Amino acid sequence: MANPRRKGTGKSAAPRYQLLGSNLRGQMKKMSFALKQIVPWGRSLAEYVAMFALSDADLRGRILGCGDGPASFNAALTRQGGRVVSLDPLYQFSADDIRARISETYAEVMEQVQRNKDEYTWTTIKSLDELGRLRVAAMEEFLLDCPLGVVQKRYVAGELPRLPFADGDFDLALCSHLLFLYSEQLSEDFHVESIKEICRVAREVRVFPLTELGAKPSRHLPAVRARLAADGHAVTVETVPYEFQRGANEMMRIKAVASA
Ligand SMILES: C[S@@+](CC[C@H](N)C(=O)[O-])C[C@H]1O[C@@H](n2cnc3c(N)ncnc32)[C@H](O)[C@@H]1O
Repeated sequence: MANPRRKGTGKSAAPRYQLLGSNLRGQMKKMSFALKQIVPWGRSLAEYVAMFALSDADLRGRILGCGDGPASFNAALTRQGGRVVSLDPLYQFSADDIRARISETYAEVMEQVQRNKDEYTWTTIKSLDELGRLRVAAMEEFLLDCPLGVVQKRYVAGELPRLPFADGDFDLALCSHLLFLYSEQLSEDFHVESIKEICRVAREVRVFPLTELGAKPSRHLPAVRARLAADGHAVTVETVPYEFQRGANEMMRIKAVASA
């Protein structure tokens, strides 16, 4: 996530944090993330299981996490014997640098959630304090795992819409809180190109959430869905047992026609 910027929801003029590097907002070709532009924020394995309705069989497969950032998904699942590779431009930085950046930005992110608290459900996660504890624990787990994970090539620096993997390397690819969430910053073409690229390397792709910032349905959803279907992909939208951002309880499942 990156620079605070103004977003005209009409409800609040407060800056809303973005988790994207400046290069993405400009959609330039080269990776040009600066750590100062990133606001790291990560979720847990339990949240990934709920967001993506992951079964035990899913968790036994070869999994790619696109845009995993400082989530603990990879660390926790690896510890349980899973086979996970995470891709994110954040991984070009050291764990120490990422930790320092988390410390710099944590309070402001929490303040922003507080300002927009009616955009969240507060049923599973019951309070701001609980949210803080969950996020810090997840990011700490990632930070401890990061140096070894980089050596083991479980954390790979890179960015959509291109992936440094061979065709069919993964059984399942997951993309949490990147595509659709940043619909204002990332174009319809970027979404289609990215999802097709993920489908090249994985038999099945799941994307969550399908809402954009401001807790409204992604403006790109109908067109992206139609274009993927026209391109021969099997696309479904399914309700999942996770809703923290209000109305964000659906994931998209995409399969290339050959494996549908
Ligand atoms: C909101 S965070 C989500 C982190 C994690 N997936 C989670 O749900 O906790 C978005 C992540 O997307 C990463 N990101 C931004 N642009 C990307 C791109 N083009 N390809 C892959 N990851 C990207 C950011 O660095 C950041 O870590």
